[in-house]
Amino acid sequence: MIEAVKGSRDILPEEIGRWHFVEEAARQTFERYGFREIRTPIFESTELFARGIGEATDIVAKEMYTFLDRKGRSLTLRPENTAPVARAYIQHQLHRRSEVERLYYIGPMFRYERPQKGRMRQFSQIGVEVFGCEHPAIDAETIEMLVAFLARLGIAPVELILNSVGCRDCRPRYREALVRYLRPLRDDLCEDCRRRLETNPLRCFDCKVPADRERMARAPTIQEYLCAACREHFARVRAYLDAFGVAYHVDGRLVRGLDYYRRTAFEVTLPGLGAQNALLGGGRYDGLVEELGGPSVPGFGFAVGEDRLVLSLGAGAAIPDDAPEVVIVALGEGGVTPALSAARRLRLKGRRVIFDPLKRMSDGLQETIAEGDLEARLEEMARA
Ligand code: HAM
Repeated sequence: MIEAVKGSRDILPEEIGRWHFVEEAARQTFERYGFREIRTPIFESTELFARGIGEATDIVAKEMYTFLDRKGRSLTLRPENTAPVARAYIQHQLHRRSEVERLYYIGPMFRYERPQKGRMRQFSQIGVEVFGCEHPAIDAETIEMLVAFLARLGIAPVELILNSVGCRDCRPRYREALVRYLRPLRDDLCEDCRRRLETNPLRCFDCKVPADRERMARAPTIQEYLCAACREHFARVRAYLDAFGVAYHVDGRLVRGLDYYRRTAFEVTLPGLGAQNALLGGGRYDGLVEELGGPSVPGFGFAVGEDRLVLSLGAGAAIPDDAPEVVIVALGEGGVTPALSAARRLRLKGRRVIFDPLKRMSDGLQETIAEGDLEARLEEMARA
């Protein structure tokens, strides 16, 4: 038997109502804030991710599905969608259309990670990106929208973790300080952290090895190294969030796994998700559009793991019932034509109708209608 490939899965009709429910809530919420949907291709040039996400990140270094096409071009199944959306933004010169462009997407991403509950090799993200404004109110408004979206799904309160990861001016100084702290501990670090120390020392904060975690708990945090502009931006984001009544806590050790972040970075974790407890992540990426060859346009966004979101839906979520409202069974060959036309007329009136010519569904029959009474009964049902 050929089965779905490890790390991928089928979503069966019994489950799909939950997916439609979260997608519909996302569309409705985001559209109220002026976001419009964008659909970008599933595959892109490998270079887009190498430049956008960063060569030294785990995603680019070891998790991408990369292949050569028949002409020898290196292509990659998108591991995330911020870089592709930024690419589309540049390619179609969306900055010329409106000063602030708000875009959202829903769709599959691919990462070669070890599969476990809530971690798949093909997974779906619901994400948003705002281009064209560096005002801290954009960070706060977008986070508030996210909280409103989760509340609508019955996921509240959430643990929102916030940090500022600095900018091109202040992060290098912090990186040096972190390396100064870690260098003398090098021989005790795990193999991954020794590698990270050379390539991407901030990633050591994500290490799961207990001894390394203890060392990182004593490491200097970026908060102490932020430049005046980043410090002010962060203070204002927090002030707007406070004004919105959005609860968060600042964790100077939150670093995100993608290199494009500047200033605001955040995650929402949910205890019920186990080891894979990040429901979503996001932040500001003011240098990304320029890095990809576009104009100097700031950006801010987040992506929610849809698989994890569906797993976390509370019992209170009002998932619409997709069961048929009417089942019409033809009790004999002579009943098939009137049953078909009855089904069609009810559907035209907006009813969900299943037609069964084989009498298999006749067990729970609630009423039998003689052909002569059909017309009147249909009128009644259509009005009901
Ligand atoms: P990310 O933190 O890499 O950020 O992914 C966002 C979310 O996608 C995670 O919090 C998680 O819920 C989900 N996710 C990631 N990998 C997997 C997996 N293997 N299986 C299931 N779910 C997964 C980004 O991708 C950024 N592009 C977010 C962003 C948008 N930043 C700014 N704009």
